[in-house]
Amino acid sequence: MKENFCETSWAGKELIYQEETGSTNADAVRLASELPHGTVIMADSQTAGRGRRGRTWVSPKGENLYFSLLLKPSFPPEQASMLTLVMALAVACGIEDLYGNQKVVQIKWPNDIVVCGKKVCGILTEMQVNAGNISHVVIGIGINVNQMCFEGEALAFASSLKKETGLEKNRMELLQRILSHFEVFYEVFCEAGSLQPMLKPYEMRLANLYQEVLVLDPKGEYKGIAQGILNTGELIVRRKDDGKEIFVYAGEVSVRGLFGYV
Ligand code: BTN
Repeated sequence: MKENFCETSWAGKELIYQEETGSTNADAVRLASELPHGTVIMADSQTAGRGRRGRTWVSPKGENLYFSLLLKPSFPPEQASMLTLVMALAVACGIEDLYGNQKVVQIKWPNDIVVCGKKVCGILTEMQVNAGNISHVVIGIGINVNQMCFEGEALAFASSLKKETGLEKNRMELLQRILSHFEVFYEVFCEAGSLQPMLKPYEMRLANLYQEVLVLDPKGEYKGIAQGILNTGELIVRRKDDGKEIFVYAGEVSVRGLFGYV
C-alpha cells in the first residue's frame, strides 16, 4: 500500500496497486470492510474486468487506467446512483486538465466519457446495503489512455485519449487530477444531497443535450430529444410521439444516439 501519493485529503490517500488482478471492483468489494473510505485500488491490467450490464471490460497492460474508489457514505442508498454522474464529471474535468483544449470531452448520459464521438471511459458503480444503510459503494473507472489498437466491434465505438489527441500521458497524473476533482464534487454533493450544484458543469459536457436519442426501455423503445438532467440524475427526454417529457432513470434503460453511439 502506498500512502500520500495524492494532494487530496482523503480520496486516494491510501492506494493499493497491483500489476495484475481479476477486477479492481471485485477486490474493493471483497476488502471493503477492512479498508478506509477513500481507498483506491488500481491495477496495470485486469483479467476479468467488469463492465455495465454484465459485459467484460477489456483491460490490456501498460496502457490504460483501471481503478476503483471505495466510499463509505452516510447518505441514504437512494442517493448512491447519482455518484456515478459525479464521478463522470470528475473524470471529464481531470481529462480536460491534462489535455487542455486538444479535444472536447463530453459525457454520454449517464456516465460514459466520449471524445470525438467515441467512448474512452466507462464507469461501474456497485453498492452494498445492510439494514437500509450503505455499507460501501465502489466506483470503478476504466479509461483508455494510451491504447492504440482496438479490435472487433470496439473499433466502431471505442477509442483512447492518445488515439484521439495524438498525445501520450502519464496515467498516475490523470488519476491524481480525477481524484482531486472528485473529492471536491463529492463534498458538494453530500452537502446538497443532490446534483443541483453540478448541473451546469455536467450539462455543459452532456453529449446528448438537445440531440435525438433512442431510449431502450424494456417496456418499449421510443425516440425523443434530450433536454438535460434532473438534479437527481434522470435524463429528461421530450418524447417524439406525443411531446411528453419523460424522466429516464439510468438503472432501467439505456440511451443511444440515432446515428451512432452518442
Ligand atoms: C462500462 O461498461 O462502461 C463500465 C466499465 C468499468 C470498467 C472499470 S475498470 C476498473 C474497474 N474494475 C472493473 O472490473 N471494472 C471497472
